[in-house]
Amino acid sequence: MTYNVRLLLLLLTVVFTSHSLSAQVLNSKTYENGLVVTADKYASEIGKEILMKGGNAVDAAVAVQFALAVTLPRAGNIGGGGFMVVHLANGETAALDFREKAPQKAARDMYIRNGQFKSDLSWEGILAVGVPGTVDGMIKALERYGRMPLDVVIQPAIKLAREGYSLSYSQAEDLNNHKDTFLKYQASSNYFTTGDTTFFKEGDVFVQTDLAETLERVSRFGREGFYSGPVADAIVNEMERYRGLITYRDLRNYESKWREPIVAEYLGYKLHIMPPPSSGSVAIAQILEMIDDYPLAEMGHNSADYVHVLAEAMRRAFADRSYYLGDPDFVDIPIEEMTGESYNDRRVNSFSMDSATASSTLSHGQIQGYSESMETTHFSIIDKDGNAVAVTTTLNGSFGSHVSVTNAGFLLNNEMDDFSAQPGEPNAYGLIGAEANAIEPGKRMLSSMTPTIVTKDGKVDMVLGAAGGPRIITATLQSFLNRAIFGMRAQQATSAARFHHQWLPDVLMPGQFGLSPDTKRLLEAKGHKIFEIPNVGRTHNIFVDQNGNLSAGVDPRGDGWASGY
Ligand code: DON
Repeated sequence: MTYNVRLLLLLLTVVFTSHSLSAQVLNSKTYENGLVVTADKYASEIGKEILMKGGNAVDAAVAVQFALAVTLPRAGNIGGGGFMVVHLANGETAALDFREKAPQKAARDMYIRNGQFKSDLSWEGILAVGVPGTVDGMIKALERYGRMPLDVVIQPAIKLAREGYSLSYSQAEDLNNHKDTFLKYQASSNYFTTGDTTFFKEGDVFVQTDLAETLERVSRFGREGFYSGPVADAIVNEMERYRGLITYRDLRNYESKWREPIVAEYLGYKLHIMPPPSSGSVAIAQILEMIDDYPLAEMGHNSADYVHVLAEAMRRAFADRSYYLGDPDFVDIPIEEMTGESYNDRRVNSFSMDSATASSTLSHGQIQGYSESMETTHFSIIDKDGNAVAVTTTLNGSFGSHVSVTNAGFLLNNEMDDFSAQPGEPNAYGLIGAEANAIEPGKRMLSSMTPTIVTKDGKVDMVLGAAGGPRIITATLQSFLNRAIFGMRAQQATSAARFHHQWLPDVLMPGQFGLSPDTKRLLEAKGHKIFEIPNVGRTHNIFVDQNGNLSAGVDPRGDGWASGY
């Protein structure tokens, strides 16, 4: 597929996420005890109930993840994966990687046919599926940090699946927009279409009995309830039905993994960010290093100069991402050097305030000694003790591979598209990758998901993260800068217009109505090619003020909801 066709796909992905929505936007409300901000009202309310019953932020996060698997089938999941960053009130931080893995039978050329990269195979259907990580991740998080048992935190999700919930306008639209693709797969057609020529409507009660049974098995048997027994049988049967690759052994061997967050510092803030296989941490740390000598506050929010400096830094960080980053269990990533001052100072040497650097003239930077060896969803939670959790979770594209597991009631991801299936060929988000992110059995695909907890003087100050493919990184960065540089409140920082640059394609992408015509003219005069897109990510943030009061940033670009007390 040519680069332009892939770019079109990227835009369709964002267009699909831009239909009319009904987020709850709370400009000035603050909460003293706990706060849960997610993409969905049911999930936020469930998280809040867990907090009010004495659960901590991790208990609430696990409850929310399972609830979103029911109410947000396009992204919330048990058939996908994600990342969690935890910051406890005692200062301990941890990062949990429950990203999918390539099955053992995966091969680097699995999407090549007659010498051609067939990108549709990594995007839709059975070959796009990575080994799901969510259930193992949630159980690990709960075992290490939770106060409540699994059967208690999963119960609200089981109830919602069994008794049904009322579809919102956008949930009904989402399902209807994907009907033609669901119809190609029998189980998805049974679960996610009306079964006839009619369409879902706002207010329809959506019941998922098979999913309730699967969640019930997880509740009773923990990890074994998913990775072995009838649910594993159902997954393997689905693989056999459509000639997929995942085996019992892949399921048995899947393990989520605790990792050390990457810490970046800027203006007295410390950002604790999900490390690789998330690329967001390295990119944000690099960008902050590259921009820290520029008088950004003076330039002014979203002025042409401000956008230019950030876009140039984003361009360089994404060029490095494409070359150096991959699964740290498979490739050596020179993280320290990439995020260090001297390397990034060298990277900004080629900055000019007057003109944009052409991406074609820019590649990854040279690091000595290194040899090549809209659908996601983010939620933020703080509990009454000051423990914070940031989780970003996904099936990758909206509704993932569109293949559901017969009798088990859930969709499988299409995360294999996040590998660089053919080095040099862009994936669905236009991202180019190299050897570091090539497909290998058991490897995790590189991600842009960037759950982040920001502390100041040792206390949680912001809980941040976003959905939106590579725009996750730039949206999370801008939520942070909106507070760190401009002192915006949570809702303001979340609603504010954003922009995105990812090196290739060489275009500066403001969100719709994001930049004024004269700002765009000034940027064009510097040589930027401007390409407006509907949304630059969707973010669900929490800010904490000096008195410990919590406020929510609910992205008006989505259906998000804040529940606090
Ligand atoms: O992990 C990643 O970077 C992608 N699978 C995320 C996809 C995404 O955010 C889609 N959109 N909203």
